[in-house]
Amino acid sequence: MIHLSAPHAPLLGVNIDHVATLRNARGGAYPDPVAAAVLAVEAGADIVTFHLREDRRHIKDDDVQRLKAALHVPLNFEAAVTDEMLTIIERVRPEHVCLVPERRLEITTEGGLDVAGQLGRIRAACQRLQAAGCRVSLFIGADPAQIEASADCGAPCVELHTGAFANAWGARNIQDMHTELTRLKQGLKHARSLGLRTHAGHGLALWSEAASQPFASSTAQIAALPDVAELHIGHALIGHAVFVGLRQAVADFQAEAVRARRPA
Ligand code: PXP
Repeated sequence: MIHLSAPHAPLLGVNIDHVATLRNARGGAYPDPVAAAVLAVEAGADIVTFHLREDRRHIKDDDVQRLKAALHVPLNFEAAVTDEMLTIIERVRPEHVCLVPERRLEITTEGGLDVAGQLGRIRAACQRLQAAGCRVSLFIGADPAQIEASADCGAPCVELHTGAFANAWGARNIQDMHTELTRLKQGLKHARSLGLRTHAGHGLALWSEAASQPFASSTAQIAALPDVAELHIGHALIGHAVFVGLRQAVADFQAEAVRARRPA
């Protein structure tokens, strides 16, 4: 196994939600997101990230308990700001919590949290979670008002939503990509100037369906920003695992079939 040691790289939080998506498609126990998390840590993940959604569409309550028991790296529990979630978090006591907006009908977390518009509610949630010993991060857009409101809430960290940048990268829209990257850089700088630790994530990938990219991957472009202390990556990383693992999977099933026909 190749594990590149890169002391100045951002920490990598691997989001295992979509292993659970695959499991839930058949309603059984396989593939197990907890086993995937253990493998991710063996491979070098610094943090394991998951999002317990209100509708439990991927990670389920039992997964959270098992993740807590199985892992010795920090767990980053993504959750909506609801009393139900805050109560679960107080019971589980993950090392890290990232508060995110949640809409039932969205496919994924579409935008950042409106911290400025619900300052009192988010501040109270931060206090509750910090009293439970969790390090709190707020998932926001790179918008000065949201960054300032996050600092006002007493959260020590913000995670800037990279979705718009990642979409521009996927569409090879160089102008939008530069605009979004500039906005992210300014947001990171602003947040750092207010004493916040800064993370980034959403939609980051290694390749796109468009043929060869004339520029670095969305992951590389964000990882290169010195103010990014942590990256949180899920969908494209699990998707990539299909491609880097499919050859071996076909070989393993073929060998099993061949063995089954061998005379005893
Ligand atoms: N960061 C946060 C706060 C998220 O909510 C998500 C999606 O659950 C991610 C990062 C990872 O996004 P993706 O799955 O697109 O890599």
